[in-house]
Amino acid sequence: MELENKVVIVTGAGLGLGQAIAKKVATEGAFVALWDMNQESVQNVATMLDPSGAKAAAYAVNVTNEAEVLYAVAQTVAKFGRIDVLVNNAGISRHKLLEEMTLELFEQVIKVNLTGPFLCCKAVAPVMKKQNFGKIVNIASLGGRTGRPGVGVNYAASKAGLIGITKCLAKELGPNNIYVNAICPGPILTDQTKQYTKEVFASWNAGRAVPKDGYPEDIGDAVIFLASSRSDWVTGVTLDVNGGIFIG
Ligand SMILES: NC(=O)c1ccc[n+]([C@@H]2O[C@H](COP(=O)([O-])OP(=O)(O)OC[C@H]3O[C@@H](n4cnc5c(N)ncnc54)[C@H](O)[C@@H]3O)[C@@H](O)[C@H]2O)c1
Repeated sequence: MELENKVVIVTGAGLGLGQAIAKKVATEGAFVALWDMNQESVQNVATMLDPSGAKAAAYAVNVTNEAEVLYAVAQTVAKFGRIDVLVNNAGISRHKLLEEMTLELFEQVIKVNLTGPFLCCKAVAPVMKKQNFGKIVNIASLGGRTGRPGVGVNYAASKAGLIGITKCLAKELGPNNIYVNAICPGPILTDQTKQYTKEVFASWNAGRAVPKDGYPEDIGDAVIFLASSRSDWVTGVTLDVNGGIFIG
């Protein structure tokens, strides 16, 4: 198993990609701290992974709230003793064309997708520094790489910003053996993407190199690589996981 007895935090673990990532890391032997602002869904996932609560625990945390993030870090360390991996997965999209995009919607998405990961990185860094080890995996997006149509300037900016955070922290935290990488998933059907029409969703897949559709588990597999010792000389990279829709 690739993550035997590692302690892994997954944010936004109640649904979609986060839930699939949490399942994958649990299957690889990790202790999983599942964070989500939706307490009910994240508790259900934790119970499904380990009804005894020994290897999986749910935490109600809004990643935009610094006090909640700091408290959840403290609770995670109190339960599991350390934090080896942080997966910044929680995210939202609120798409509008530029002239319909309100300042409120712009700031809402930046807050969850960019400020949230910043707060989580900041809160776990002291723990990882003390251990002289850690791996941070940021779930960015194809939208942050290509600004694909219909995705919204708020979302594209937040995910491009997250790639910037990834590069900056890879350099800043590298001397402490803390690895920081990003994954850019292509379009995958989840609660977040079902707000888009079939046509928009299909347009995002146009020109894909391979016929295979993307599934949450494909992102889980990429996380296992970047969270495990398989990637011990990889930091600061952005891994495109999109079936070759975008080959940069
Ligand atoms: N689905 C895709 O096609 C796709 C593609 C590229 C990137 N992504 C990114 O992957 C991540 C997961 O996306 P998804 O499609 O699974 O979304 P989703 O909407 O299905 O699930 C998101 C989860 O995050 C939680 N969440 C939202 N805001 C939160 C907050 N402030 N604090 C804590 N938890 C919060 C939600 O409760 C939910 O459980 C997001 O960052 C998204 O931008 C998704």
